[in-house]
Amino acid sequence: MKDLKECYLKELDAINNLNDLNDLKVKYLGKKGLITELTKNMSELSIEEKKEVGRVSNELKNDLNERINTLETKLREEELNKKLEREKIDVTLPGTKIENGAPNILEKVVEDFEELFMSMGYDVVDGPEIELDKFNFELLNIPKGHPARDAQDTFYIEDNEILLRSHTSPVQARVMTANGGKEPVRMICPGKTYRRDPDDATHSHQFMQVEGLLVDHNISLVDLKGTIDEIAKKLFGEDTTTRFRPSYYQFTEPSVEMDISCFNCKGKGCNVCKQTGWITIAGGGIVHPNVLRACGFDPKIWSGFAFGFGAERCAMLKYGINDIRTFYQTDLRELRAFDRKDV
Ligand code: DAH
Repeated sequence: MKDLKECYLKELDAINNLNDLNDLKVKYLGKKGLITELTKNMSELSIEEKKEVGRVSNELKNDLNERINTLETKLREEELNKKLEREKIDVTLPGTKIENGAPNILEKVVEDFEELFMSMGYDVVDGPEIELDKFNFELLNIPKGHPARDAQDTFYIEDNEILLRSHTSPVQARVMTANGGKEPVRMICPGKTYRRDPDDATHSHQFMQVEGLLVDHNISLVDLKGTIDEIAKKLFGEDTTTRFRPSYYQFTEPSVEMDISCFNCKGKGCNVCKQTGWITIAGGGIVHPNVLRACGFDPKIWSGFAFGFGAERCAMLKYGINDIRTFYQTDLRELRAFDRKDV
């Protein structure tokens, strides 16, 4: 028994963590512990011996328990102090600056379009970027082999039938076809478009358009003019005026090019408007009867207008950006510069 005490005293001395202390506790005081074992064969002893063994083993138990408790308190305290030391916070250190995000300028302009048109009762719809020739061209009055196709140098994917849409106008054909000529249509479709254009300051092989279509009864150019007027004022300022110039698109007749008065010089002539006082922002016109018919609308009953804005062009004008590549280069310095402007 004396040997046992010497043993645990020595072992206790060497212990410097709670795990080892627990192991020691099990080793001596556990169910099969060395001290517990001492009282195992008591039945073989005389009464006197039993008393003696019981007393001494109890003493040992109590002694060891006390030592373990004292050491445990000490070790816990040490551990806590170490932890506090590790987690010490120096409140005088300078903070870590968290960078603010900034809205993407193109996204912002598209959202402006969406909000304006939604407030006028238009739906915002989506269409596929990988498109069928049928929707991109044929239903829009541009049959195979027609020279009007040359104006849009298209990326073909398969057999001249599947392509990357070269404009958002196929969504007009999709919406009208799905409608089946029964209900009026009022929709815009912002989205990506693709053309085999060289990438330079004003061209990109991928760019965004905002397509619009309204089909109802007795629709004329006047309705288109009123609508574009409203949008131009909201996007470029209340004193903006608009004008139409004759143009040509296969899917509208008559077709127009839509200009706004230069917001920079108010029409006097400057670099932004190339001294003309006017800036072209969209193409449009009255939906061609062939298009209405092909998409299931009877042109004797229905009429409509359509338009297409160049989203990058509008964003470039509005925010004074002179290179279209700015939108796609994700240069954080550029984004931060816009962040500081009144976006
Ligand atoms: N799709 C034409 C383009 O990419 C733009 C356009 C013009 C759309 C007239 C229209 C429209 O809906 O009526 O150049």
